[in-house]
Amino acid sequence: MTAQLIDGNALSRKIRAEVAERVASLKGRGLQPGLAVVLVGENPASQVYVKHKVADCESTGMRSVLEKYDATLSEADLLARVRALNADPSIHGILVQLPLPPHIDAHKVIETISPAKDVDGFHVHSAGALMVGQPGFKPCTPYGCMKMLESIGCNPRGKNAVVIGRSNIVGKPMAMLLLQASATVTICHSATPDLAEHTRRADIVVAAVGKRNVLTADMVKPGAVVIDVGMNRDDAGKLCGDVDFAGVSQVAGWITPVPGGVGPMTRAMLLVNTLEAAERAAAAAV
Ligand code: GUN
Repeated sequence: MTAQLIDGNALSRKIRAEVAERVASLKGRGLQPGLAVVLVGENPASQVYVKHKVADCESTGMRSVLEKYDATLSEADLLARVRALNADPSIHGILVQLPLPPHIDAHKVIETISPAKDVDGFHVHSAGALMVGQPGFKPCTPYGCMKMLESIGCNPRGKNAVVIGRSNIVGKPMAMLLLQASATVTICHSATPDLAEHTRRADIVVAAVGKRNVLTADMVKPGAVVIDVGMNRDDAGKLCGDVDFAGVSQVAGWITPVPGGVGPMTRAMLLVNTLEAAERAAAAAV
């Protein structure tokens, strides 16, 4: 392996420690940041994710409230819960875990969350703020990827960046953040005829497709920074990303592992967003 590892576990630990310090300072002023996590149904992966989110909050001194509902909860009742959390001054961030059961319109639920509490950064208001460079909440995964670039001293300015994937949660906001940082950004997706033609020119590649081996060694420019957002299982059932790690790490300059790369950073940035929501609420109350 020639590439250096970008250690998401170590970086997220550092960020969590900084969050804990800022939480302590807010608490000294009589305000404890609070996150509400809403889970509807029994999706096993979602249950694990929300458990981590709640534990993360508590480990930094924040309050977290986990609201669990049966999969039969009506859309109207969920919207009523979100409105109640919007009005609750002890709650600064609201996260409704996705996916929601099919009878609930996820878009409607996200749009009901107050933009001031949209710590996932999924609301149209947050997406619009990111697009026009106004303050708002950045979606946690792309925000974490930017922090990883910063941690290795990689300034995207003037670099060619390729984002593989165009989801609202990762691909599109990732491209916006890289653009804001003055990279020349290309978004590739399932209808891109020759992906390698783009990735071979890239100084930074972010793979966010949800498919194994989307990026192989022959597709990477020597020395490039490769960020793997994927979370898949290989044939042996082992966790793996979108990038052929064994091959690409022979060519890239920097690479994120899976697990231990982007995943812990996503969790850390949720804490940062929740803290920022509480700090903004505190500033508005002065
Ligand atoms: N489901 C999987 N990842 C996420 C996330 O980051 N936020 C929410 N709300 N749901 C998810």
